[in-house]
Amino acid sequence: MTANLSPGSSTERSVRILGLSGSLRRSSLNSALLRAAAEVAPPGVDLDIGSIADLPLYNADLEADPPEAVRRFRAAVGAADALLLATPEYNYSIPGGLKNALDWVSRPRRGPLVLDKPVGLVGAGGRMGTARAQLAWLPVFAEMGLASVPQPEVYVMMGRGFDDDGRVVDEALRSRLRQRVASLAAAVRARQSAGPTGETVTAFALAAPSTPATPR
Ligand SMILES: Cc1cc2nc3c(=O)[nH]c(=O)nc-3n(C[C@H](O)[C@H](O)[C@H](O)COP(=O)(O)O)c2cc1C
Repeated sequence: MTANLSPGSSTERSVRILGLSGSLRRSSLNSALLRAAAEVAPPGVDLDIGSIADLPLYNADLEADPPEAVRRFRAAVGAADALLLATPEYNYSIPGGLKNALDWVSRPRRGPLVLDKPVGLVGAGGRMGTARAQLAWLPVFAEMGLASVPQPEVYVMMGRGFDDDGRVVDEALRSRLRQRVASLAAAVRARQSAGPTGETVTAFALAAPSTPATPR
């Protein structure tokens, strides 16, 4: 990871965005979207692409001593300032593997791994360009306490904008991805400026009792 300094600042470190693809397919268009987003990320933003491939199915019994893959994944999410999810649409909704990955970082509920962390979506596939899947993610983000950064929307229909090798070649799409990454980075910077006692954090803290009567 490079230690870019953002323009105009001698002290700010790079914004770290963790990209996660919901498709494990080698030729995945969604994974290709993330690679393109990393290529076009503006100065001062590092987009690392993580993997969900080794994660076991969520099992609360493993919480006391989580498998190594879970520990690594939690560390990667914890180290990130923001998340960028590239979501396929599976059967009109969220791909189960990526939801499973998010479930692993959702405990403790609205805990430090995700609380108020900006998250954005991109998606490629199908006639609706994953719009239904992207909508289905929103209540998940709300429950987890992730801070959804909805704009700009990126819905890529039927592989448009990719070449035969699955690379994003369409300039308008690459520009859109750059804006997508930039808006996430701006949300991170705004939170850093607001400090740890910003209003949003306080609101979440009030909404989440420290000792819930029943586990959720
Ligand atoms: C299990 C499964 C379910 C799918 N369901 C939908 C769907 O509901 N709507 C849609 O537009 N495409 C659907 N597709 C097609 C995917 O959108 C398409 O294969 C897409 O390219 C997958 O993303 P990837 O290229 O990143 O693997 C489905 C594909 C699979 C494998």
